[in-house]
Amino acid sequence: MSERLVARDPAEHAMLAAELLARGIAEAVADRGVARVALSGGTTPSPAYQRLGALWLPFDRVDWFWVDERAVRPDSPRSNYGMAARALNLDGGSRGRVHRMVGEGDLADQARSYEELLRQTFGIAAAVAFDAMVLGIGEDGHTASLFPGTGAAAIADRLVAAIGPQHDRGIEGRLTLTAPVILEARFAVVLARGASKRDAVSAALSSGSEDEVPARILRRAKGRVVWVLDREATPSD
Ligand code: 6PG
Repeated sequence: MSERLVARDPAEHAMLAAELLARGIAEAVADRGVARVALSGGTTPSPAYQRLGALWLPFDRVDWFWVDERAVRPDSPRSNYGMAARALNLDGGSRGRVHRMVGEGDLADQARSYEELLRQTFGIAAAVAFDAMVLGIGEDGHTASLFPGTGAAAIADRLVAAIGPQHDRGIEGRLTLTAPVILEARFAVVLARGASKRDAVSAALSSGSEDEVPARILRRAKGRVVWVLDREATPSD
């Protein structure tokens, strides 16, 4: 059963998300000596990452990973790595270990490389269970880079998938964690703001086809899921 927090304004939305993540990181470090965090991109998380970066964190115990990445260079304005690294000020090297998803080059090779990194980090036989994960939701109901009508939400034979470009939707190629990894996360915050997201949030919280609304996979999450919304993105139900 997921939880829902409704922020009164953008500043509170960022603060709620940042404080939830900071608590998840601190608890992971206290329990296991390390916090492995997977970050989504897009635009919504940036203020939350800026707030998170301004909090006291055991940065030296944090490993930063990405939920997905676009097939762009890290210095591209579309880069999920670039957005998060700037907002969290990760580039100096003193704020944890940064494991960038490499969107350049052959996506299938890069997906295999990132999967190997996850296996090495979490252990071959252990579940790849991130301590904290940040997810968003698109107006079309996608989360990570699991887009509707593509079958991506059902990929379960790998940890990281290469998603081909969808030229008709203006979407470049992607790398993305797959549903099994997303569902294994100990704690996930799902960030959504604005009226344009309300229908997608409502659909994601309802039962139905996961290929139609990939964010519905979160209804099967093993860990704690907190939707951090604003009033406009909150379904009226
Ligand atoms: C991406 C993100 C994606 C994002 C949603 C929402 O690469 O685009 O990882 O899953 O969370 O598209 O994006 P906005 O926050 O920009 O609305």
